[in-house]
Amino acid sequence: MKAIQLNIQDAVYFAEKQFEANKDQAVEAITKLENGTGAGSDFIGWVKLPKEVPAELVDRINKTAERLRENCDYVVCIGIGGSYLGAKAVITALSDSFADYYAPAPKSPKVLYAGQNIGEEYTAELQKLLEGKKFGIIVISKSGTTTEPAIAFRVLKDQLEKQAGKDAAKNLIVAITDANKGALRTMADKEGYETYVIPDNVGGRFSVLTPVGLLPIAVAGHDIQKLLNGAADMLEATLHPGPDNIAETYARVRNALYNNGKKIELLVNYNPKLHYFAEWWKQLYGESEGKEGKGIFPASVDNTTDLHSMGQWIQEGERTIFETVLSVKKPAVSVRVPENAENLDGINYLAGKNIDEVNKMAELGTKIAHVEGGVPNIRIELDKLDEYTLGALIYFFEKACGISGYILGVNPFNQPGVEAYKKNMFALLEKPGYEKETEAIKAKL
Ligand code: PA5
Repeated sequence: MKAIQLNIQDAVYFAEKQFEANKDQAVEAITKLENGTGAGSDFIGWVKLPKEVPAELVDRINKTAERLRENCDYVVCIGIGGSYLGAKAVITALSDSFADYYAPAPKSPKVLYAGQNIGEEYTAELQKLLEGKKFGIIVISKSGTTTEPAIAFRVLKDQLEKQAGKDAAKNLIVAITDANKGALRTMADKEGYETYVIPDNVGGRFSVLTPVGLLPIAVAGHDIQKLLNGAADMLEATLHPGPDNIAETYARVRNALYNNGKKIELLVNYNPKLHYFAEWWKQLYGESEGKEGKGIFPASVDNTTDLHSMGQWIQEGERTIFETVLSVKKPAVSVRVPENAENLDGINYLAGKNIDEVNKMAELGTKIAHVEGGVPNIRIELDKLDEYTLGALIYFFEKACGISGYILGVNPFNQPGVEAYKKNMFALLEKPGYEKETEAIKAKL
């Protein structure tokens, strides 16, 4: 696919035998995803999703976004994990890096986030920012019962109702949740909020191309149809097994490296706009593969920034890592290094060059050094940063994740381990229904 190119030549030779060995498993994995015959197949609604989002749904999302854009200077997206990371990844990648420092402009609200932590200062500072302001809320929770977004929603709903009045607040709140169950569904129906449904067969970390991601992205002013088009084209490009299927190739090479001792994958970017894309990717791969005592540990770095902090470890630390580099071919703008007659800083040799030419040489120099230092390098080149390319990239990583999880031999679509801390937290907070657990945990303290 032209928008996204995968290059594994500096990675595959680190695990040639393992790469050849997992070919049949990859074919089997693709068949399972297509036919719904693998583990967790009740959660593979995302596989065909980009081609199945009805035009009416896209229209309705755009209309809701327009309403929020017209009536709000700030829109707070409340959600955690898969219920906010996809939107934040796309919005950060496509927006001006300093957007939040400009004053709100008409019909162009700032998108803020809440319910992704339980920070008291964070909450208080957000409340302070929103004091007296025109704001709206998109509250997102598939289960409708997650504690972090529930607390944030209770706090901000209260503030909105006080500031705008209960009736007006109803038009400024949109809930995205399950069709039938969960406290958020009950509340949304009772209060009369506009709602969107998260399909049953799409798990949180695979839900960015549902209203979960599409509504906040549309509110931020980005074209969600183009995002879906990119994903749909990637769906076509990764439908069948074979050497041209880049999702299959990526899944195979990372499993081959894992089986040859490379236990940590660093998603590397050379563009700060991709920072949150890496956060989304970490959840996607971490929750999908980290189970049954197995799984590549997904980590990330922002370069060149992190070359000045993590570069030493990557170059010479334990040889258990490999890198997957996201490289954007063309920046959207041009800034050249100016000539300076005095040349006191000694960088006149760069004068006239675009900043990105320097960045690309940093990337190339780093790759050569890291590969020579024993770090395999997978490269994913993006034509540019736009909705279409990001849609394609999202689907590429989702598809590769499904294939990779099946090659690894786990159910990539569950997350049983996420519940353990919640049980302890509820027991410690003495949530009704957790009396026995409360007694047990208190005995351990
Ligand atoms: O991917 C997942 O399942 C999780 O990260 C969830 O997205 C996260 O826990 C939020 O859950 P919910 O949308 O039910 O509030």
